Amino acid sequence: MSNYIDLVPSSVSLIESLRNMGYSIETAIADIIDNSITAGADYVNIRFAWNSGDPWLAVIDDGSGMTKNELIDAMRFGSMNPLESRTIHDLGRFGLGMKTASFSQCRHLTVVSKKDGQISCCEWNLDKLSQADNIGWKLGIVDLATIRKRNILNSVYDESLAHFDNATIIFWENIDRAKEQVPLAKQESHFNALIDDTRKHLELVFHRYLSPDPGRKKVTITINGDELTAFNPFNPRNLATQELAEQKIVLEGETITVQPYVLPHHNKVSRQEYDQYSGEGGYLHNQGFYVYRNRRLIIKGTWFRLIKKEELNKLIRVRVDIPNSLDHLWKIDVKKSHAYPPESIKNELRQVIRKIEISGRKVYRQRGQRLLNNIKTPVWNRIALGGKIFYQINREHQLVKELLNTVPAQQKALVENLITTFESSFPVDMFFNDIASIPEQVESPKFSEKDLEILLDIFIQSWVSTGTPQSELPEKLLSTDPFASNQDITRKILEQRGYDCE
Ligand SMILES: Nc1ncnc2c1ncn2[C@@H]1O[C@H](COP(=O)(O)OP(=O)(O)OP(=O)(O)O)[C@@H](O)[C@H]1O
Ligand SMILES: [Mg+2]
Repeated sequence: MSNYIDLVPSSVSLIESLRNMGYSIETAIADIIDNSITAGADYVNIRFAWNSGDPWLAVIDDGSGMTKNELIDAMRFGSMNPLESRTIHDLGRFGLGMKTASFSQCRHLTVVSKKDGQISCCEWNLDKLSQADNIGWKLGIVDLATIRKRNILNSVYDESLAHFDNATIIFWENIDRAKEQVPLAKQESHFNALIDDTRKHLELVFHRYLSPDPGRKKVTITINGDELTAFNPFNPRNLATQELAEQKIVLEGETITVQPYVLPHHNKVSRQEYDQYSGEGGYLHNQGFYVYRNRRLIIKGTWFRLIKKEELNKLIRVRVDIPNSLDHLWKIDVKKSHAYPPESIKNELRQVIRKIEISGRKVYRQRGQRLLNNIKTPVWNRIALGGKIFYQINREHQLVKELLNTVPAQQKALVENLITTFESSFPVDMFFNDIASIPEQVESPKFSEKDLEILLDIFIQSWVSTGTPQSELPEKLLSTDPFASNQDITRKILEQRGYDCE
């Protein structure tokens, strides 16, 4: 028979280590807000101040609040076993978030909670845990008189909890992480920039709470009184966004819902809207699955290594909704910023990708096709031969024919060589790179009206001399490049000359 001894971890060493779990300030605040939402809050208010270099931050919610015993339990590291099942709306899992998220950013966490009018307050102060009279895991129980003496906490309390019967304040002081490795003179602006990033992060992560589907509860989140606006990465309100067929995958009796979207091509939306939905890192980077656990975004823009991120798929984003009952299979992490699909559904996800890839690519193909259809006599021909694709100048184009017919015989070879030189030195890599990264800025140089008119005369003369009736000229011109690609100016010139372009 074995003997057992109690081997309590050293609180200071353990918490110091847990501080480095990899939270950013955005993911830490999101983890705190998870608790507010789980507690049924309608309003979550984030307040912060730089406070002359001693910043503080408070997350205040009007959720259920906690009794003294509930609060003491909540302050425990590992307040709940991750293997225990949770109610379906619970955004928590590990019994750690409130503590680990807070200590990732600050050294002093105070929680004030009010339930049915009763106030309770507890604190973990990392700098005090190592002091002689406080060694071990001694939780600070704070009374109202002490709250009253702590100026900032007291004013946050007066502005919020004092007015509710049920509410909670998560209060961070001694926020050291936001200042680390930042020169003193830049710390304040750096802190403010972090809060700006946090705003964007929360607008995305909680967009389905900020702007809920019909029948779902709305949660209002503010930062220093300024309300957050939902950012839906699928841009579903734009009519040019394609919502493809929803698919359901059943696993252990639970349903995973997969909803693919193809975002609008840059030609279908304004420049501002295109940029807005590109997201940090651009469209190429942000293609992929967006996994939501109880409608809270966990991970975004990944194909889970099932396929590579490709230029042709860059407009595809797939919403995946998983219930919290499948957490154990999705390898959800404490920070709620990572998930990985179980082996058993990877194949189904691969099939989902295959189906939607076709639609995503169509957005590009259709455009290419349309261009080909409209222009019967292009300047450039696309030739697919033996698994390769070439772009060649169309030797049958009127202008090329005209040039080759009119140059003196001894210069004909020179002109032909010049054309071949253009073709073989087409800057494929540079062009691809630009189209991939800044498609909206890539344009063909435009013809001036005067130059186009000179060319138009050359075409008309040449066609008329070979017997083309005047009535057929507009249609012929408008389907020949460069006129086909400059429809508006060409029509204007033709109409001014009395041609009927309809
Ligand atoms: N704002 C709040 N309002 C009411 N109860 C809260 C609030 N914040 C935390 N709690 C309580 O404290 C408990 C511990 O929270 P904590 O974030 O540490 O763990 P969790 O949410 O259970 O799991 P996870 O580690 O996945 O976040 C919660 O389960 C909840 O009961
Ligand atoms: Mg939590």
